[in-house]
Amino acid sequence: MTRIADEKVLVLDFGSQYAQLIARRVRQQNVYCEIIRHDIAAQRIRELAPKGLILSGGPSSVYEPDAPQCDPELFQLGLPVLGICYGMQIACQALGGQVQNTPAREYGRAHCRVTKPNELFAGVPEAIDVWMSHGDQVSQTSNEFVPLAVTDTCPIAAVKHRSLPIYGLQFHPEVTHTPRGANILGNFLQTVCGCSGTWKLGDFARETMDTVRLRVGDSRVICGLSGGVDSSVVAALLAQAIGPQLSCILVDNGLLRKDEEMAVIREFADHFKTDLHVVKAEEKFLEALADITDPQEKRRCIGHAFIECFAEEAAKIEGARFLAQGTLYPDVIESGGSLDGPAATIKLHHNVGGLPKDMAFELIEPLRDLFKDEARALGKQLGLPDDIVWRHPFPGPGLAVRCVGEVTKVRLDTLREADVIVVDEIKKAGLYRKTAQAFAVLLPVQSVGVMGDARTYADVVAVRSIDTEDFMTADWSHLPYELLARISTRIINEVQGVNRVLYDISSKPPATIEWE
Ligand code: XMP
Repeated sequence: MTRIADEKVLVLDFGSQYAQLIARRVRQQNVYCEIIRHDIAAQRIRELAPKGLILSGGPSSVYEPDAPQCDPELFQLGLPVLGICYGMQIACQALGGQVQNTPAREYGRAHCRVTKPNELFAGVPEAIDVWMSHGDQVSQTSNEFVPLAVTDTCPIAAVKHRSLPIYGLQFHPEVTHTPRGANILGNFLQTVCGCSGTWKLGDFARETMDTVRLRVGDSRVICGLSGGVDSSVVAALLAQAIGPQLSCILVDNGLLRKDEEMAVIREFADHFKTDLHVVKAEEKFLEALADITDPQEKRRCIGHAFIECFAEEAAKIEGARFLAQGTLYPDVIESGGSLDGPAATIKLHHNVGGLPKDMAFELIEPLRDLFKDEARALGKQLGLPDDIVWRHPFPGPGLAVRCVGEVTKVRLDTLREADVIVVDEIKKAGLYRKTAQAFAVLLPVQSVGVMGDARTYADVVAVRSIDTEDFMTADWSHLPYELLARISTRIINEVQGVNRVLYDISSKPPATIEWE
């Protein structure tokens, strides 16, 4: 699909955990932004015609033999450049500055003082808190650079080139721990790059619908619905773009959360009046999963069964030529699927629930330029209810990977009941949007308890709730004790066969978000 923005800024990714965050922060200022590989040729940048470049941070030291480099010619393109952390070091080094390894890595909050008023810090107080995370720092610049700010341990916390529109920040303006970071990025985008900030999601929706209509003509499009945010937003977008030419398929694999199937039917069959095919396949999935306890084996089984069900149903839909999927920008970047994008990262891709690439359909991926928060905002614009728009992510293999050990109908029902209590209580406490993913896990362990006068020997449920922006790293949510107490009491009282509740206090890494 062709791009939609007149003005764009490119983020060169040097391996930073924050590259996507930088891009989102830029888009939050209504400037379209894409992440590209750090070694992209200057000539290619010229062709892409961005308004400016941001060089991301990265884990390397500029002096390491394999340190990621950029094409030095890019500094001669006359384009505004903002180097952040490693990006600043690369820029300074390329233009004659010196980078030194500081004795101690500086990590965390620092007080920064702006020493030279300039456009990057316009409207920003002279003393600000900033977030540092670096080993090396620029120790000396060539005469071409003017230092702009200092911290206690960093004599050159920000710089500006004397004659070129090149700036550097040793700290991270993109993280929330740099409270005035948005002002600084905004100054770069508006004043230095001259962006007008007119990129709007509303335009995106309209233009994407036009593009889809044009491409699809009068053919039929199939869309797989899972109840998750991404596929729901795609379906809502297509429902508005091509209405009666859309057919949705929901595979009820028996591994969905309580009442999920009904919510999807209500929304798409009743509200959007979409042609919705619900494939009742609980038995097929449970049979395939019988006696399987290995997590990856579960995923494989579920993946195969899903493809069979989906393909069988799709074959019944006459004239279907296109298949719509809810691929998001991070999926595109992380799978290395973008032409100029960075190479695939090490992120484990579990998307066994996906469809094989060789299905006889042409793919439509209307969200492939959007981040999750943008997909949510789009869903809201398209009229999806909050309940769907703000739904926590749910893994393709569903509750099977939260039923640790054997997956049976009885165990799934137990888990479903516990899960709905966890989510319900977190919502009632007003913490559902603050937490990124919250759920129950049924353990393959029985423990002794007493209920009334009787001794019990029953199941154990673990509660998991995590806070994260990117799902690559995550912290366990520091939920209030009273909330945990309510969850525990309700699960033990209301869910038959459970007599003990645990709260998972492991961060990722080293733990993962799911238990399997
Ligand atoms: P982990 O457990 O790897 O999960 O920390 C990171 C995110 O991915 C989701 N997840 C999956 N999603 N198929 C999916 O579509 C899977 O097999 C799968 N396993 C984990 C998980 O829920 C979390 O959001």
